[in-house]
Amino acid sequence: MIRPSDFSSIVVLTGAGISAESGLKTFRDNDGLWEGHRVEEVATPEAFINNPSLVQQFYNTRRQQLQNEAAPNTAHKALAHFQQQYSGSFTLITQNVDNLHEQAGSQNTQHMHGELLKGRCLSTDEIFPWYEDMNEQSLCPCCKSRGNIRPHIVWFGEMPLYMKDIEEQILKCDLLIAIGTSGVVYPAAGFAQLAQAAEACTVELNLEASAVHSDFNHAYYGPATKVVTEFFRT
Ligand code: APR
Repeated sequence: MIRPSDFSSIVVLTGAGISAESGLKTFRDNDGLWEGHRVEEVATPEAFINNPSLVQQFYNTRRQQLQNEAAPNTAHKALAHFQQQYSGSFTLITQNVDNLHEQAGSQNTQHMHGELLKGRCLSTDEIFPWYEDMNEQSLCPCCKSRGNIRPHIVWFGEMPLYMKDIEEQILKCDLLIAIGTSGVVYPAAGFAQLAQAAEACTVELNLEASAVHSDFNHAYYGPATKVVTEFFRT
């Protein structure tokens, strides 16, 4: 097994698979349904315009579940521990909207698809912490209007966050590791190819081969709590 500490600049990309053993369902392991909904029903700007209460309710349930039922698992903790003692450059990018990396102790996690525990003002795009249910009566802390607020989530058809910075980090790294992501949603699905083109070593840690498995130099398959913990053991 290659050792991450032998590299000087590491980018880690995580997806829903790292949080699966924390009790949060992945997106594509249930017949294309996400907690009983098609993504277009709940995770697009059109859905929010057409049926805001369904979309808010969907994220309210996810927010409650995250705060009441989920906790970081040993894979989140192994990553945070590695980051704390590693002396090179370390960038953690996640597609996950949960805060389990932060709870495990990771620093500066880049949530490219947004964060469940934040809200956003529809007028100014200002972002603020949000832990309660959100609905059409919720008072926006930014503009003080009721209902002028949405979950801070990047929906399908919207631009992921921090892309310029992320691409710079990938082009500079000598090791890119993708954990628990199916490799079907771009731009994240293209990160390994970008890193390989810049001559970095690429590693996939996943339950099974992803859709872009051929973009990785090494792969270790199994549950995240096993393969991630072993890979980042220091
Ligand atoms: N350990 C490791 N990997 C796992 C585990 C586990 N215990 N359980 C599932 N996996 C893997 C699956 O094999 C799959 O490859 O995690 C991956 C989960 O894939 P998706 O559900 O597609 O999640 P992700 O890749 O994060 O989705 C990307 O799609 O819907 C959007 O915005 C959403 O951020 C999300 C994006």
